[in-house]
Order: sequence, then C-alpha cells, then structure tokens
Amino acid sequence: MLPVHATDETTMLDFLLDARADDRAAPCGSPASAAPGAMTRIEPAQFRNALAQYATGVTVVTTLDCDGSPRGFTANSFTSVSLDPPLVLVCVSRRVNSYPVLTQSGDFVVNILAQGQRALSQQFASKASDKFAGVAWTPSATGAPILDGALAWLECRPWRRVTAGDHAVLIGEVIDLGSNPGEPLAYFGSAYGTLAPLDDAGSAQD
Ligand SMILES: Cc1cc2nc3c(=O)[nH]c(=O)nc-3n(C[C@H](O)[C@H](O)[C@H](O)COP(=O)(O)O)c2cc1C
Repeated sequence: MLPVHATDETTMLDFLLDARADDRAAPCGSPASAAPGAMTRIEPAQFRNALAQYATGVTVVTTLDCDGSPRGFTANSFTSVSLDPPLVLVCVSRRVNSYPVLTQSGDFVVNILAQGQRALSQQFASKASDKFAGVAWTPSATGAPILDGALAWLECRPWRRVTAGDHAVLIGEVIDLGSNPGEPLAYFGSAYGTLAPLDDAGSAQD
C-alpha cells in the first residue's frame, strides 16, 4: 500500500525545479520561435472553442465536507492516469465552492453519468444551495455519495494535488469501484449528447 498524501500539494514550480535538464530541452529541430518567450497569445475564446471539440463523458465528483454534509460538482476533466497503482485525475477550478471542500475532505467518489442523467449533471453544475435535494444516493465505505443510476463509480483516496494555473489537478488512488450496464452521457461542443457506435464495417480501420 502506497503512502497517502491527503494534504500533499505540489506546485507546477516544484515540478519544473525537479525536472532534469533533458526534460526541459527543446525538441530536435524545433525553431527558435518555439521558445517560451516567443509563444503566440492564446485567446480564451479560441482556447475554449478548440477544447469543446474534444468529446468526453460527464462525471459528478462527490465527497463529504467537514460537517459530514454531501457535496458535489459536475466535471468532465476526468481521466485515468495509471494502472499500477490505480490512479485517476480530475481538474477542479480553484474558483468553485468545491475546491476548498475537496482540499479539506477525505475520500471522494467520481460518478460516471449514464445517458439519462443530464438533469443530474445540470444540477451539480449549478450553484444550488442543496444540490443533493431529490437526489438518490448511497454512501461509499468511507461515506462519500455514490449516485443511484451512475454508469460507474470510483472511490478515490487523495494521492496528490497539483496547482496548475486557475485549476488544481486532483489525483486520486482508486480504493473501490463499481459499474453497471448502460449508455454514457456525452459532452461535445458545449452540449450534451449520446455516443453512437460505428457500424462493424467501419470501426476497425477508421
Ligand atoms: C459538462 C460540464 C463539465 C464541467 N467540468 C468541470 C471540470 O472538469 N472542472 C471544474 O472545475 N468545473 C467543471 N464544470 C463546472 C462546474 O460544475 C460548476 O462551476 C459548478 O457550479 C461548480 O460547483 P461548486 O461551486 O458548488 O463547486 C463543468 C460543468 C459542466 C456543465
């Protein structure tokens, strides 16, 4: 069992200071214009539009706050990180209410939403005072909410937290999980959708 670093925070600066010279070297043949000082300014709208072209699933990240009340927010920045140990990550804005909650709470659950759970996603993306009103859930072994009907859930123990610009990357070690058959809720182009599999003829080579 690896040590748990519930309060361990690493900044990007720590990472950069740790990096070996080789890690920082410019790639072969990269032009001088690729130097950091010469980078084009990325407009926020342009950045958001490009990122919106990346299709994702939708999750609701839940935990218990210091008072033992259930808390949660919608996140599509979820991804798997490592198989051994089993690690996942989610990026949380440092401006949302969930950020201080997640930095102080213990374990959290990533609930992967099913196709029919768009309303749940909208509820947890809101600023409602009680986002759990009318929501059916059961506590995980450590008490964090597992939402009824979720396609899968992963109970995570905080492993590392990396401050990255206006967000923090929360890396969690998966300590328990479950999954159910069903179809996922998808998010693409700033809109909810569903996934349609390609037909057999096209799926292998496309
Ligand atoms: C589909 C979708 C995905 C989202 N993904 C994220 C995310 O990955 N990280 C994040 O910080 N906010 C994300 N948000 C926004 C938060 O859910 C939203 O700011 C929410 O109000 C935060 O709630 P809180 O202030 O109670 O924490 C997402 C919203 C939607 C609709």
